[in-house]
Amino acid sequence: MNQEKKVWRNGNLIPWEEATVHIMSHSFTRGSAVFEVLAFYSTPHGPAAFRLPEHCDRLIRTAELLNMEIVQSKQEIIQAVAETVRANNLDQGFIKIVGFLGEETFVITVPDPKLELSIFAISAQEFRPKNSPPAISSCLSRWRRLHPETVPVEAKVAANYLNGMLARQEAQRRGFDLGLMLDGQGFLAEGSVESAFMAKDGVLMTPPLGRILHSITRRSILEAAPAIGLKTLEKPISLPELLHADEIFISSTSRRVMPVYRIEDRSLGEVPGPVTSQVSRLIEAICSGRDDRFRHWLYPIR
Ligand SMILES: Cc1ncc(COP(=O)(O)O)c(C=O)c1O
Repeated sequence: MNQEKKVWRNGNLIPWEEATVHIMSHSFTRGSAVFEVLAFYSTPHGPAAFRLPEHCDRLIRTAELLNMEIVQSKQEIIQAVAETVRANNLDQGFIKIVGFLGEETFVITVPDPKLELSIFAISAQEFRPKNSPPAISSCLSRWRRLHPETVPVEAKVAANYLNGMLARQEAQRRGFDLGLMLDGQGFLAEGSVESAFMAKDGVLMTPPLGRILHSITRRSILEAAPAIGLKTLEKPISLPELLHADEIFISSTSRRVMPVYRIEDRSLGEVPGPVTSQVSRLIEAICSGRDDRFRHWLYPIR
């Protein structure tokens, strides 16, 4: 099925099937694989990746937080992403960049933590099921978001994702689409792989950085919202505030803006509500290149 697909690995394009590591590798047994997921869209000038330089910065920052090293420069990673998309002949879809310690090892630290790099490009249809719903339900997870004094929560590293996996499993077992996690102090943090927003009296609110991933979509929403006259606030959101929100939505690279129609047993009425609709239209326009004000966020990769 993947016969035609090419993967970029340390400077070479290799067949998809050959993009493997040994089970005893550090990244497999200790969860030290660092990664990025970004979207690329079809534009009149060819495919363009959404905020590619910012995604590269976050990848490099993740490695730094974990005292690991990405050998390639930001510019080299950007070129490698473009090469991967070209080699797979895709117009729009998703890119996953994975930095990993592929050597076999038994120990918890490796003497030379230089990461190997792989880049995967897949079509939008493959990544996102066709019938994705227009809105989702969310529970409050019994799992708290990782505490920033235990691991750097802003690092996008495989081991951190067991936290989100447990929250998602619990939500699905309870019949919800996803679970929103609180932080160690009981304030709203985020979902398993998505940021959380709420609206109250026309103001868009989201938890501050420090206990959540530095999401590129979240940042884009906060940066772009003033352009449509929306007031935004980054502040700790208590549980009662969340449960009395006028609107709630989640955001991420793959879902962009997704309204929540129910939180626990509370229905949020007609969705998307007015604020969510405005934000969703804005992000859709930006990603499709229809909004000139943010055209520079679409980075040409052909
Ligand atoms: C924990 C977490 N929060 C938020 C997000 C959304 O981040 P982005 O907008 O960069 O996709 C992700 C993405 O995977 C995530 O894993």
